[in-house]
Amino acid sequence: MIGRLNHVAIAVPDIAAASAIYRDTLGAQVSETVAQPDHGVTTVFIELPNTKIELLEPLGENSPIAGFLEKNLTGGIHHVCYEVADIMNARDQLVEKGARVLGDGNPKTGAHGKPVLFLHPKDFCGTLVELEQC
Ligand code: CO
Repeated sequence: MIGRLNHVAIAVPDIAAASAIYRDTLGAQVSETVAQPDHGVTTVFIELPNTKIELLEPLGENSPIAGFLEKNLTGGIHHVCYEVADIMNARDQLVEKGARVLGDGNPKTGAHGKPVLFLHPKDFCGTLVELEQC
């Protein structure tokens, strides 16, 4: 069902500092910083030859990553994103197998403008999984 790894998302307390690490220390191609108020995060995308890294910094009062950063003060891997061809079909198959979809169970438009869903980390080896229709 799942296809390519679309990105690994890393939550960070200071996105400028994190961008500098990826750009200057690791020599990666780092995008500009983009505020995404609808998602409660500020993002930076890092293009690697085979996938992307998404840096996330909390934005606003009810950021969905605020709690994660309270537990992981210096940042950490927040989720992995796998590509699927048909997100509704993938969701239905997963729910049938007992997996829990977060939120109201319907896809939302993600940070890349494509439909996404998040799956409960307790059902996937302790890792928050994002599915993106590509
Ligand atoms: Co993501």
